[in-house]
Amino acid sequence: MTDELQTIIDLIRYGASRFNAAGLSFGHSYDNAIDEATHLTLHALHLPHDIGPAYGQSRVTLAEKEDVLGLFLRRIEERIPVAYLTGEAWFAGLSFNSDPRALVPRSPIAELIENGFEPWLGDREVRRALDLCTGSGCIGIAMAHYNPEWQVDAADISDDALALAQSNKSRLHADNVRLLKSDLFSALQGEHYDLIVTNPPYVTNTETDALPPEYDHEPELGLRAGADGLDLALKILRDAPLHLTDRGLLICEVGEAEEALARLLPELPLAWVEFKVGQMGIFVADRHDLVTHHARIKKLADKRP
Ligand SMILES: C[S@@+](CC[C@H](N)C(=O)[O-])C[C@H]1O[C@@H](n2cnc3c(N)ncnc32)[C@H](O)[C@@H]1O
Repeated sequence: MTDELQTIIDLIRYGASRFNAAGLSFGHSYDNAIDEATHLTLHALHLPHDIGPAYGQSRVTLAEKEDVLGLFLRRIEERIPVAYLTGEAWFAGLSFNSDPRALVPRSPIAELIENGFEPWLGDREVRRALDLCTGSGCIGIAMAHYNPEWQVDAADISDDALALAQSNKSRLHADNVRLLKSDLFSALQGEHYDLIVTNPPYVTNTETDALPPEYDHEPELGLRAGADGLDLALKILRDAPLHLTDRGLLICEVGEAEEALARLLPELPLAWVEFKVGQMGIFVADRHDLVTHHARIKKLADKRP
């Protein structure tokens, strides 16, 4: 049945059709079937992802076709995200190792990093930055890569995630990154940062239980965050002022838990970042505001497990 498939473009078109027919969930690295099929095909053929369109008409050998179709089959039958099949994910224009030890990098914070966190940083000088809940290390390592003069700490509670982050630190020669094992700020006593960036777990329990099978391949520790998705974010809001310099900034992703947070803390001035595609549940808070509203934040956070 696949005898008619002869060229690279034939394979990509076929993969995309099968992915759509199988009702796969997209959104880990790519948001559509054609991009996923393209990426898997080029990976199996050992070709760069920016190959010119003319190569689409190149014919493939039988062995190459089997390799490509084998990857398509695993994507469909096992629902493995593309990044875990290829072992690679792109984030902020950089190539990271990706495997089930940590979530596939996909945070919109990449756009902020590439824009130098403007306009949020303004005239603030950053010497030390923290990526809390670093997972694969993507945020901290990308910040360090684009700002070689910064000293970046990247912390996670998971040994598995930290091992993957270590491989990415080596891969990207990020000598200005220090990896630390820490339950939120617990191992960071006395440390102060001009910028704290964090993409903590923020999926509600109900949503976590209903996620498509692709998410079963990711560590649940990176997703589940209580009844309203705010178990970790509230503790970060509570403890961040202790670890921010005077004019320090906290940038935190809470995704769809944005509404719950705004309901719980309507008086806290949070600036919700506008991305090219609109708001993505990422806020910026300055230390001063977190201190002003600390009592209320602490009361809410202390109730969390
Ligand atoms: C949503 S993932 C984000 C990973 C990475 N920053 C990214 O953007 O792809 C959340 C990460 O938080 C870590 N984590 C969960 N609970 C934590 C805790 N109490 N302290 C530190 N890290 C935690 C998980 O291990 C996971 O790597």
